Formats: sequence, C-alpha cells, structure tokens
Amino acid sequence: MTNSLAAITGASAGIGSVFARKLAAQGYDLLLIARRGDRLEQLAAELERAHQIHVEACTADLSAVEGVDRVAARLAAEPRLDLLVNNAGFGVKGRFWEAPLDKQIEMHRLNIGAILRLTHAALGPMVARGRGAIINVASVAGFTRSPGSVSYCATKAWVNAFTEGIYLDLKSARSPVVVQALCPGFTYSEFHDVAGVDRASIPKSFWMTAEDVVEASLSGLRRRKLFVVPGWRYKLVVALVNRIPVRLRLALEAGAPHNRARLPGRGNPD
Ligand SMILES: NC(=O)c1ccc[n+]([C@@H]2O[C@H](COP(=O)([O-])OP(=O)(O)OC[C@H]3O[C@@H](n4cnc5c(N)ncnc54)[C@H](OP(=O)(O)O)[C@@H]3O)[C@@H](O)[C@H]2O)c1
Repeated sequence: MTNSLAAITGASAGIGSVFARKLAAQGYDLLLIARRGDRLEQLAAELERAHQIHVEACTADLSAVEGVDRVAARLAAEPRLDLLVNNAGFGVKGRFWEAPLDKQIEMHRLNIGAILRLTHAALGPMVARGRGAIINVASVAGFTRSPGSVSYCATKAWVNAFTEGIYLDLKSARSPVVVQALCPGFTYSEFHDVAGVDRASIPKSFWMTAEDVVEASLSGLRRRKLFVVPGWRYKLVVALVNRIPVRLRLALEAGAPHNRARLPGRGNPD
C-alpha cells in the first residue's frame, strides 16, 4: 500500500521541521519545502532512515513567482496529497513607515500569496477526491494589532479570515476536506532571530515549544477543529480580545511589553 503524502512549507526550521518529524512518525511520505535545500536534504535523510518512508526535499523560494508556481504545479499533480501544511512565514519589525517596504512586500508574498496559491492548487483535487486536510499557520497576532508589527499582524489576520472562509466554502459543498488555522503565540524557533526581536523582552511564561504547538495542531486536526490556539494563556488572550471593547483592546495592545520591544528608541531592549 502507498503512504499518504504530506507537504510542509518552511520545513527547514522551527515549527515546520517539527511537523515533518511528527508526520514522519505517523507514516506519511513527505514533501519538504523551503529555500535552504541542505537542511531539507539532511532532515529528509534522517527521517527516511528512522521511519522507512519516502521524503523529498524541494528547494523553493515561495515569495517568488517561479518558486510558488513550481510547488503549486507539483501539489496539483500529486494524487496522494492528503495534507498540506502552509507554514513558511516571517515577520518584519519596526513602525510601518520605517520598516523596509521591500521586506514587507516580500512578507505579504510569502505569508499571504503563497498560502493563496498553494491552497488553490491543493484544494480542488482534494475536494474532487473527497479527502484531505490543509493547515494554515496563522498566529495569535492575527487576532491583535501590534505597534511595530503592523504588516505581520495584518498578514496573519488574513490567514485567519481566509481559512474561516474556506471552511464555509467546504461546508457549503458538503466536502469532508478539513481546514485549520493554527494560531500559536510566542514559540521557540528561528522566527525571532530572523525578525530581529529580542526574546528576553517577552516574559518566559509566554513561550511555548514548537513540539507543543504541533501536538495541539495535530490533535485539533483529528477533531476537525477550525481554529487551534495552543496553550491556555493564548486561548484566554484570544477569548478576551474578541470580547472587550475596541478602546480597551487598543490600550492593552499599546502597553504590552513585547510590542514596545519591536520599536526602535523609547527605551525598549533593542
Ligand atoms: N515562532 C513564533 O513565535 C510564531 C508565532 C506565531 C506564528 N508563527 C508562524 O509560524 C510559522 C513558522 O515559523 P517558525 O516560528 O517556525 O519560524 P522559523 O524557525 O524562522 O521557520 C520559518 C520557515 O519558513 C521558511 N521560509 C522563510 N522564507 C521562505 C521563503 N521565501 N520561501 C520558502 N520558505 C521560506 C524558512 O526556511 P528557509 O529560510 O530555509 O527558506 C523556515 O523553514 C510562520 O508562518 C510564523 O509566522 C510563529
């Protein structure tokens, strides 16, 4: 019997690499996608040895048209694709008008454009087959706005809205295909190094491991949960921001220490 295939974007580090390890242990064949091909090859070899599965490393820049088109074509043509994890993403730090515009545009191409394109490529065939699942990695930041991280929060709000919309489309078509918006809070990975955010500015109790985040996601997938928010603190944050008056939310968002840390000047730790 042939194994199901799971495709994971951003599998060369952090949350994506943990998805790869956990899905390999479940017996999926894997398609690992990211720019750092050497890391993907290394992980692929390790997982093939450990789990007797087939793992393919696919080097692609998903913020570039060529890269995302190539991966989309591969996904659309893969009849065994049972799970797509749209995980690749990054953040840009700094006030909107001060942070480099080209980086913000690249971030939109990756955090939004690649998810749109790859979900479109994968979903049609999944619906036709009557099986499959897509996990879109959003963020708790998708429910909030943060000074110094405006565009990042907006991209993640889009992921939440998009995934909820797809859920409704699938429901209206009575499709069994499952979608999930995974909304982690602060998670140990390379994310904050890439964004240039000092981890020490964020209280220790708010950090989660990528293992815990991925466990919550896969457990939510088994229960067909649309929104998965790992950790009780973040469940509380999301429940609160969705219920409190806007003026109060804005005051809390403006004062949060991790938000101040994203801004240059004003005595922040950076
Ligand atoms: N860490 C957190 O606190 C946190 C919280 C909430 C949500 N998230 C979300 O979780 C997801 C994974 O982030 P992470 O924390 O695991 O960060 P990470 O450790 O920095 O991993 C990011 C992954 O995305 C890949 N990537 C970046 N740019 C890419 C591009 N242009 N094309 C293809 N792949 C690209 C990277 O691989 P290459 O560099 O090799 O291309 C890497 O594998 C992101 O969507 C992020 O927004 C993270």
